[in-house]
Amino acid sequence: MKRINDLLNRLNNFWHGSVLHRRYFIGTRWEKMPSTTIIAVFFFCLFYGAIVLVRCYDLSIFSYLSSQRSTYKTPSKQEFPLKCTNTNLTQTCPKDYPTKHNPTTYPSNATCPSYFKWIHEDLRPWNSTGITRDMIERARRTAHFRLVIVNGKAYVEKYRESIQTRDMFTLWGILQLLRWYPGRLPDLELMFDCDDRPVVRSKDFLGPNASPPPLFRYCADEFNLDIVFPDWSFWGWAEINIKPWEHVLEDIIEGNKRIKWKDRVPYAYWKGNPYVASTRKDLMKCNVSDKSDWNTLLYIQDWDRESKQGYKQSNLSDQCNHRYKIYIEGWAWSVSEKYILACDSMTLFIKSHFYDFFIRGMEPLQHYWPIRDNSKCSSLKFAVEWGNNHIEKAQAIGEASSNFIQENLKMSYVYDYMFHLLNEYAKLLKFKPSIPPGSVELCSETMACSAKGTWRKFMVESLVMSSTDTLPCTMPLPYDPLDLKDYYERRANSTMRVEMWENEYWENFNKKQ
Ligand SMILES: *[C@@H]1O[C@H](CO)[C@@H](O)[C@H](O)[C@H]1NC(C)=O
Ligand SMILES: *[C@@H]1O[C@H](CO)[C@@H](O)[C@H](O)[C@H]1NC(C)=O
Ligand SMILES: *[C@@H]1O[C@H](CO)[C@@H](O)[C@H](O)[C@H]1NC(C)=O
Ligand SMILES: *[C@@H]1O[C@H](CO)[C@@H](O)[C@H](O)[C@H]1NC(C)=O
Ligand SMILES: *[C@@H]1O[C@H](CO)[C@@H](O)[C@H](O)[C@H]1NC(C)=O
Ligand SMILES: *[C@@H]1O[C@H](CO)[C@@H](O)[C@H](O)[C@H]1NC(C)=O
Repeated sequence: MKRINDLLNRLNNFWHGSVLHRRYFIGTRWEKMPSTTIIAVFFFCLFYGAIVLVRCYDLSIFSYLSSQRSTYKTPSKQEFPLKCTNTNLTQTCPKDYPTKHNPTTYPSNATCPSYFKWIHEDLRPWNSTGITRDMIERARRTAHFRLVIVNGKAYVEKYRESIQTRDMFTLWGILQLLRWYPGRLPDLELMFDCDDRPVVRSKDFLGPNASPPPLFRYCADEFNLDIVFPDWSFWGWAEINIKPWEHVLEDIIEGNKRIKWKDRVPYAYWKGNPYVASTRKDLMKCNVSDKSDWNTLLYIQDWDRESKQGYKQSNLSDQCNHRYKIYIEGWAWSVSEKYILACDSMTLFIKSHFYDFFIRGMEPLQHYWPIRDNSKCSSLKFAVEWGNNHIEKAQAIGEASSNFIQENLKMSYVYDYMFHLLNEYAKLLKFKPSIPPGSVELCSETMACSAKGTWRKFMVESLVMSSTDTLPCTMPLPYDPLDLKDYYERRANSTMRVEMWENEYWENFNKKQ
């Protein structure tokens, strides 16, 4: 952002410089006007025309650049496209990729978004003991792969097949991180489990001498110590045609503009697969019917049918047509969360047991409306009634979540989160990471060159072409225990406040009946 702003400023100064110059020139002519002839007036008009022209040109450059913000690269920047060998020789990793990150132009001192504080919390179980090789080996039990980074290069030992291609796109993401910040990551070894639910139970590892196995995955909950890491969908979910996050986000921002908030359907909306968890089946009871109206419209997503019909009915940018959107977890956290929160309809967030890496930075009543999970229908009905009676406030909550996602969950912060998490993790290692015997270097080429179809397409779309010009954001300090207490209390308070309003609403409602 800073880089682009500086660039815009420079361009702006350049153009305004020339405009000012001309203005001055005209100024002197203007003063001379009384003593000059009609020819001077003619020249004035010519010069005035020139200004208008220059200004228009100026503006069009401006809007061109701002529309290109996310993808604009300085022309001098060296790019590293995929180098696939076209012969039948095995694909190897290019040797000329930079091993140092030198962000010369635009140092950034910006502090990372507050959800980065949870990196300290997630790693706290190892803060006093450090991480030994033995602990890591014990995490192998459920891991899908071991990732090793030595001298800025990645190596992988694969243990078992993951669901779909989760492991592949997770590794792809890590390879892009290495391209984003070449040579900046320390040596490390870690175990990654691509399944849904966390498994490292905190109750098995109590006391000061506990040595829990550090295990990375996409979510955790209050009973487990698994370390949360961004999920594969940030680089695309090929099986169901969900594009890399950067591009979906652009589509959703466009989708937000399509229907004005007040003109949207004044109902709560959800579309998804209800068969993955009992809580979702429970939600299905809330659909409008002849007998009841819970202000809720629910639709079943049939991915099989959609895949045969080209996903026409599942474009994520078409889903902001209702004033309220429901988020409900699935078997664990749901990938849908960021797509739902990015839409500027107010999110009705059904109480969730699992968390991913960014949701801990979002607050009930500020970014979403909390919904009970044990009486979903009445809770949803009240939320919609409240929103329709407080349109400005409901709209503001929707905008707050959409802004949060656009600003704090843009891809550069996803890379920063990965960077800081891995960096802090590596500081805890008590041994020297070593390349597993027999493993080969993993790079974007060895992965993407042999990939086919949507898999290949998404890899090409999410490929990091050149390293970033900025340093990682600055890590925030850990929560002190009082802040942490305050954090939990604040959320409990807002949730309780909503539940009280809801109780009152239903008491009055029942009195009227
Ligand atoms: C690669 O090998 C396949 C068969 O294994 C062959 O049909 C093809 O022509 C080869 N391509 C090149 C470029 O050598
Ligand atoms: C960043 O911080 C360093 C040290 O605190 C300071 O010297 C430098 O001027 C700051 N840079 C910017 C761009 O604010
Ligand atoms: C970890 O321990 C160090 C001292 O050993 C302390 O400075 C740091 O704040 C601790 N980190 C957390 C997250 O508590
Ligand atoms: C919910 O109700 C709507 C409107 O009647 C209907 O189109 C939709 O199929 C229903 N959804 C489910 C899951 O039954
Ligand atoms: C969704 O729609 C937008 C615009 O309507 C389009 O640009 C985008 O490619 C579509 N996404 C998919 C996955 O088809
Ligand atoms: C939560 O509510 C209680 C009682 O209403 C109040 O004393 C406390 O200060 C609140 N805490 C926060 C963090 O807002």
